[in-house]
Amino acid sequence: MRERAEGGHRWGALSLGFLAVTVVSGVGLVPLYRPEEALASVEAIHAGLPWAWMVRAVHAFAALGFLLSTLIHLGDAVRRGGLDRVPPGVWWRSTLLLPIAIAGMLTGFLLRGDAEALAAMAIGRGVLESVPGIGEGLATLLLGPAGAGFGPVALHHAGTFTVLPWLLSIEHGRRAWPDARSWVTALLGSVTIAGLVPVPPGPADAAGGLLLGPWYLLGLQGMLLDLPVASAWIVPLAVLLGIGALVHVRGRGRSAVLAGLGCVAAAWIGWTVRLLVAGVG
Ligand code: HEM
Repeated sequence: MRERAEGGHRWGALSLGFLAVTVVSGVGLVPLYRPEEALASVEAIHAGLPWAWMVRAVHAFAALGFLLSTLIHLGDAVRRGGLDRVPPGVWWRSTLLLPIAIAGMLTGFLLRGDAEALAAMAIGRGVLESVPGIGEGLATLLLGPAGAGFGPVALHHAGTFTVLPWLLSIEHGRRAWPDARSWVTALLGSVTIAGLVPVPPGPADAAGGLLLGPWYLLGLQGMLLDLPVASAWIVPLAVLLGIGALVHVRGRGRSAVLAGLGCVAAAWIGWTVRLLVAGVG
């Protein structure tokens, strides 16, 4: 029993390890990255500066490791009943780690400054603005005023979406720095994959083809082919509320919420396929 609980905790510890590697490699990118010439600086990092490409790729894969281990940790907590051992407030705040991890990754994607990033920025602004009452303010707060460039996004990327996951991890993991096993595993994993899989900058312009957002949001992009723009915040919000609500229901109620979340996951995969098929056609 104890071993099973520890197995679940390992993913949580590993996610903090990946967050630490993401932050350290991100700080390594700061002197090389210029928000006012985003794409040119990413191209220079990728091709012109020795070892900088490695730091950038480690950053990208450590961030991916952070997202995936957070997801697995969440799934584990539901499967093994770990969520019944935490106070509801802590569960709700821990649930926020998921959208915050995605916001960190998405703002990183925007910082690339290529054609896909610019298109994603325009779509993101449209989605935020569709939130009734507070939409325009929210868009300005998170992305800056229209035409502001990448400065505000860079600020949230390295500030808001780095400090918040760290604080939330400290609260529910009860430690501020990962144990040696977790950060060494995260570092070795990120460096190995970074050495094997290149992370090239995207295209400077659309060249008539379909511009794709980040892979984890392709389902959302596909959804927007059929549904109104507001669905891009309504559906994720419903998912978040569903995950948060799991702590309040048990038995059949919990099974029903999980079935609902499973349906959204299946639809997400369907919308991803729909988008890719539309892009090929
Ligand atoms: C102190 C904290 C951080 C700093 C200073 C930082 C810095 C940067 C910079 C300068 C870039 C743009 C260059 C590039 O595209 O490679 C970038 C990209 C990126 N960042 Fe961060 N970052 C930080 C934290 C994070 C966190 C917490 C996450 C994830 C949750 C994250 C995920 C990403 C991703 C996915 C990219 C895009 C990589 C790519 O595919 O090009 N970063 N970051």
